[in-house]
Amino acid sequence: MKRIVVLVSGRGSNLEALIAASAEGSINANIVGVISDRPDAAALEKAKHKQIAVSIVDSNAADSNHFETTLIKETKQYKPDLILLAGFMKLLSAHFVQIFQGRIMNIHPSLLPAYKGLNTHRRVLEAAESKHGCSVHFVTAELDAGPLIVQACVSVKADDTPQTLATRVLAEEHRIYPYAVALFCANRIRMDNGKCLLDDKVLDQPLKLN
Ligand code: GRF
Repeated sequence: MKRIVVLVSGRGSNLEALIAASAEGSINANIVGVISDRPDAAALEKAKHKQIAVSIVDSNAADSNHFETTLIKETKQYKPDLILLAGFMKLLSAHFVQIFQGRIMNIHPSLLPAYKGLNTHRRVLEAAESKHGCSVHFVTAELDAGPLIVQACVSVKADDTPQTLATRVLAEEHRIYPYAVALFCANRIRMDNGKCLLDDKVLDQPLKLN
C-alpha cells in the first residue's frame, strides 16, 4: 500500500473523493496525512472526521523560508510515496518539488495547457469557449505546467455562470483525480525526464475520461 499525503487550503471536496476511493479499495493506498496551510480550512475537519492525521503549516504565521522548511519537515514525517495537491493555494518552491520529484500530482480546473492559474471558469466564459474541463498532472517547478496524466471535458452552456460551470467541472475532478492516483498506486504511471509514462510508454496526449 502506498502512503499518500494530501495538501489542502480550503473546502476539501477532492480530498473527500480521494478518501472515498481509498476506503472502497479503488486506490491501493492509505491517506496517512493531510497538511493545510490555512488553520480554518474545512478540509481539515473532513480529514479528522475520517481519523486521518492533520498538520497545519500556517502560511500567514511564518516568513516564506520558515514556511518552506516546516512544510518539507511535516511532509517528510509522513514518509509519503505520493503527495497530492487538492486545492492547495500556495506555490511550491523548486526546492520542494525537487525533494519529492515525480511524487507530486495536482488537479487543475481547466484543459491544460489552456487557462493556467486562477479564476479559470470566469476566464473560460469570458473567452466564449465551448469546451472546458479539468486536468491531473505531475507537478514540476513551473506552475500548472507538469506532464499531463488525465483530463475530462465538459461542454459550456449558453446560460452558464462561473458557479454552474465550476460545479460541473468539480464533478469531473472527483472522477479523474482518484483515477490518476489509482494508476500511480498500481505502478502504471510515473514521471520520467519531464514526461508521463503509462506502462513504460510515453504518454503524448493525456488520457481522456470522457
Ligand atoms: C478545485 O477546483 C481544484 O481543481 C482547484 O481548487 C479547487 C479545490 O476544491 N485546484 P476542493 O478544496 O477540492 O473542494
